[in-house]
Amino acid sequence: MYQSKITGVGHYLPEEVLTNNQLSEIMDTTDEWITERTGIKERRIYKENEDRVSTMGARAAYKALEMAGINKNEVDMIVFATLSPDYYFPGSGVLMQREMGINGIPAIDIRQQCSGFVYGISVADQYIKTGMCKKVLVVGSEIHTNAFEYTNRDRHVSVIFGDGAGCALLERAEEGEESAVLSTHIHSDGTHAEELAAKHPGSVSKIRCSNEMLEAGALLPNMNGQLVFKNAVQRFPEVIKEALEYNNLKPSDIDLLIPHQANLRISQFVQKLMRLGDDKIFNNIQKYGNTTAGSIPIALSEAVQEGKVKKGDLLCLAAFGSGFTWASTLVRW
Ligand code: UT7
Repeated sequence: MYQSKITGVGHYLPEEVLTNNQLSEIMDTTDEWITERTGIKERRIYKENEDRVSTMGARAAYKALEMAGINKNEVDMIVFATLSPDYYFPGSGVLMQREMGINGIPAIDIRQQCSGFVYGISVADQYIKTGMCKKVLVVGSEIHTNAFEYTNRDRHVSVIFGDGAGCALLERAEEGEESAVLSTHIHSDGTHAEELAAKHPGSVSKIRCSNEMLEAGALLPNMNGQLVFKNAVQRFPEVIKEALEYNNLKPSDIDLLIPHQANLRISQFVQKLMRLGDDKIFNNIQKYGNTTAGSIPIALSEAVQEGKVKKGDLLCLAAFGSGFTWASTLVRW
């Protein structure tokens, strides 16, 4: 069995900023409500005709390749995580591939929402471990801001989400090398599938999209926030502990925890429970909101850019989200 390691990371964020105060001018919300409940102050909005989920993913991927010093033609697989694909089908992986001009290699789309990036790491890791691949791009990219109306009926969901993309390049590690993806742990449970979902357009309804559905708000993403919150604060610590125990490590061994940026209160709850100092957790939800599959690779890339990750550090990436799905990975940098 081979081992994989992360050799490059990159992210792309659209330039335009949408602040809580701007939101409060167009809908019934306040900066105080959003900040107090979520920690979010602002988020980014994609630019129509310029940003697509696939092209944003490609921009993040080029940065990851640049950091690793790898030519795009050396990549032997793309794993693309998103819940907001460019098209209903085909998936955004092939569109990113076309954009980058690296046709012929496999492109796999992952539909695991907020856990999509960590699921993607797990898939890439398995392919590298078995020797099937040597260099895999794992992307998380999302455009959320065009999914909402920004009116009272979606204010409990719309204020949370933002747009952005991140990417990691996984490569086969040399034998005996310290840098490695130590393990990945992925879970799902469909019991509460509809409690955080965009059900339409879907094949469940005879007419996939109608004026009646639009008027009833059936196309808007919906979330039972309190149920999701309760499950998140249970599953995050559980899946982090699972990874630590699997590797005979303790919470105090973690140099940097990068949780999916769902809600600052959830991250702070996990931080307190695991007794991690403020320098042992990375949060950027304040600036970008929840970018679902994009959130962990954006945060990882930003943490690296800010010099918060050193060679030999133990990183823990952990996620929880729609499905419900939850996942973690421990990475020796
Ligand atoms: O990434 C996937 C994972 N997602 C998560 O982990 C999200 C987990 N859930 C949460 O983070 C929280 O549930 C939210 C931040 C989404 C909501 O916070 P909450 O404390 O659960 O609020 P709530 O939905 O129970 O609403 C409380 C009140 C309601 O008013 P009443 O009924 O008490 O009068 C809402 O109508 O806040 C009202 N409200 C708002 N007020 C101002 C809901 N949305 C807003 C808003 N601005 N945007």
